[in-house]
Amino acid sequence: MSQFDQVIERRNSGSVKWDLVEELYGSRDVLPMWVADMDFHAPRPVVEAIVARAQHGVYGYTMRPASVYEAIEDWARTRHNWTIEREWIGFSPGVVPGLAFLLYALSEPGDKIIIQPPVYHPFAFTIRENDRQIVNNPLIFEDGQYRMDFEDLRQKAHDGARLMILCSPHNPIGRVWTREELQRLGEICIQHGITVISDEIHSDLLMPGQVHTPFASIGEEFAQNSVVCTAPSKTFNLAGLQTSIITIPNKELRDKFNAIMNRLHLGLPNTFGLAAMEAAYRFGGEWLDELGGYLSENLAYLTAFFEREAPQIKVVQPQGTYLAWLDCRELGLSTEELSRFMREDAKVGLDDGHIFGPGGDGFERINIACPRSVLQDGLQRIAGAVRKLGA
Ligand SMILES: Cc1ncc(COP(=O)(O)O)c(C=O)c1O
Repeated sequence: MSQFDQVIERRNSGSVKWDLVEELYGSRDVLPMWVADMDFHAPRPVVEAIVARAQHGVYGYTMRPASVYEAIEDWARTRHNWTIEREWIGFSPGVVPGLAFLLYALSEPGDKIIIQPPVYHPFAFTIRENDRQIVNNPLIFEDGQYRMDFEDLRQKAHDGARLMILCSPHNPIGRVWTREELQRLGEICIQHGITVISDEIHSDLLMPGQVHTPFASIGEEFAQNSVVCTAPSKTFNLAGLQTSIITIPNKELRDKFNAIMNRLHLGLPNTFGLAAMEAAYRFGGEWLDELGGYLSENLAYLTAFFEREAPQIKVVQPQGTYLAWLDCRELGLSTEELSRFMREDAKVGLDDGHIFGPGGDGFERINIACPRSVLQDGLQRIAGAVRKLGA
């Protein structure tokens, strides 16, 4: 039995995923398989580091010692073959708040920002709510796979944009972009003076055989034209600790980001987040490798299950992340019907595809970072509802 098979009661722990289920999905009986956190314990060394820090009993203002920077640098080098310099490293409570700070730092109201839908919906929200303009460069879905539309990107870049927010690996469709794809994208952006904000929060969550390329590692020009957002939050299930990393090799861009962070007085870390991050990057590697094996087995289980029990639902195979993108269009339901079907008939709480923007209609996103028994329960609920639909 794997450590990830253990079912942990998360209700009444203030969990967004579990304790908001009734409010969001209308019933306590809905099984939540939506927001991107995992139903697993964090690695033991992380828990121990937090407990040790808690036992100290004094939680005053905290600084970041050199050992934290070393842990971040070592992780980037050993896991992603990416050498980062200490002064490039900045912080933000979360990646999404970091995106907002970067919009303030690197763009003006009214500026155009390119994104690639269907994509993690807070990108569009953050752009819109901060009075910038969304420019969509939709992904192309063909033969069950997604790819970038470079011709369209070239056109949009030519028409003028200040920034591009790249999702790498891409949530919700699960692509781990190849070096060549990132290079083509980067060349277009460099040519048109568009800075790339590369959200790489899922970069440690790779299916077997996949390699993630940090955007800034492709070459000096790419490093100078980008900001890379990472975090231990998805990787080690620490989202509630509000600790993420904003790496900016270009001094001018970095100064602008730091000026915003200073103006907002957001420079100091959360004591527990800091302790957890250092422990995770130093001692979490083995746990992560085991997790990767478990997630790929969950994916294989899900894929075989749908092929056998509900072949109308096609699984777009993710190369990374613990999210699977389900093509439900063969069910023949409208956007509202599909949402209602999952919630009320199947009683599962998924993320409806349409929230991810153009190209998301008819799809659902399911989170597979849960014990296999929970996954089985969720899939059986869906298959049972699909059978009734056909009857
Ligand atoms: C692509 C992407 N970026 C950012 C986040 C959230 O980042 P944070 O919790 O650090 O704001 C998520 C969470 O699902 C995500 O998928």
